[in-house]
Amino acid sequence: MTDLTTRYLGLTLKNPIIAASSGHTSTVHYVKELEENGVGAVVLKSIFEEEILNEFNEHMNSDDEFQSNIEFLDYFDYELKEDSVNKYVDLIKEAKNAVSVPVIASVNCVSAHEWTDFAKKIEEAGADALELNIFLMPSDAKKTGQEIEETYFNIIKKVLDTVKIPVAVKMSSYFSNLGNMIQKLSETGIKGLVLFNRSYSPDFDIEKMEVVSSNVFSKPEDYTLPLRWIAMTSDHAKCSLAASTGIHNAESMIKLLLAGASAVQIASTIYINGAGQINKMLTELETWMSKNNYLNIDQFKGKLSQKNLKNPAEFERVQFMKYFSDRAVD
Ligand SMILES: Cc1cc2nc3c(=O)[nH]c(=O)nc-3n(C[C@H](O)[C@H](O)[C@H](O)COP(=O)(O)O)c2cc1C
Repeated sequence: MTDLTTRYLGLTLKNPIIAASSGHTSTVHYVKELEENGVGAVVLKSIFEEEILNEFNEHMNSDDEFQSNIEFLDYFDYELKEDSVNKYVDLIKEAKNAVSVPVIASVNCVSAHEWTDFAKKIEEAGADALELNIFLMPSDAKKTGQEIEETYFNIIKKVLDTVKIPVAVKMSSYFSNLGNMIQKLSETGIKGLVLFNRSYSPDFDIEKMEVVSSNVFSKPEDYTLPLRWIAMTSDHAKCSLAASTGIHNAESMIKLLLAGASAVQIASTIYINGAGQINKMLTELETWMSKNNYLNIDQFKGKLSQKNLKNPAEFERVQFMKYFSDRAVD
C-alpha cells in the first residue's frame, strides 16, 4: 500500500497536494469540493492588508466632511477592519467545520503594522497554520534592498510573537541574494517557506490605451524556477519547503518532491483543469511510486537535491553556453 503522507509545517498531510490561496479557496463550498477531490490541505484566499487600507482610503477620498471628523474617522477605520476580519474569521471557522484536512489561513502583507493583531484572531478562529504572503514591490527608488529585507524579518518577528500556530512565509524570487535570504528566513522560527509567490503583472491594451491585467495563470513550464531553488536550498533550510508556481501535473509535482519539497501548492491547474486534477495527480503519483518501488514520500523526497547530485554545479549554471556547445547547431 502506497503511503502518500507528508510532514509540512509540523502538520501531517495525507498527501503533498495543497490548494494554494486563490479564488478556489475563497468559499466553504470550494474548500469542500477540493477535499472531495483528495486535496491534502488548503490555504484560504488571503485577507489583504492592502485591501483593507485601500477600502478605508476610498471612503476617505469620497467624503470631505467625513475626512474632517477625526473621531468618526477612527471609528470608521475600526469598523471597516472589523468587518473584513470578521468575515475572514467566519470563513476559517466554517471551513474548519466543513472539512477534515488542515486549513491554513493567509495574510497578504506588506508591512509589520497594525494588521498583526489579526493574526491572533486567525489563530482563535481555529486555523491550523498561518501563511504570510509577503510581497514588497521594490518600486521606491530611495529604499535599499536591505530595508526591504528587514521588513520581512520585522513582519515575521511580530507574528511569531503573537501566535503559537505554525507560520509559513510565501516569498518572492526577487532578491539579489536569494539563497542567503531563503536560508535566513528559514532560521527565523517559521515552520515553512513557500517558494514562490506569483505577483499580478500589468499589461497594456493598445486599442483602448489602457492598463489591463496580464494572464494570471502560470504555464506548465514555470515549475523550473522553484525546482532550481528548492533543489539548491532544501539540504540546508531549517524549515519545511512547499513549491508553488507552474506545478500543473503529477510529473512536475514528483520533480519538486525529488528536489526536496515537502508539499506542492497548486492554483492555476485547478482553474484550467478543474478540481478533478488533484485526484488525477494523486493517482499518477501513486502509479509512479509503485513502478519505482517507493512505499512512502520520504524514500524519494530530496533524492535529486543539490547534495545528492553527481554534479552539484548543475543547478548553479546560469548560462546556456555549455548546453549548446555540446550540441550541433545548424
Ligand atoms: C486567480 C488567482 C488568485 C490568487 N490569489 C492569491 C491570494 O489571495 N494570496 C496568495 O498568496 N496567492 C494568491 N495566488 C497565487 C497562488 O496561490 C499561487 O502561489 C500562484 O498562482 C502560483 O501557483 P500556480 O502556478 O499553481 O498558479 C492567486 C493565484 C491566482 C491564479
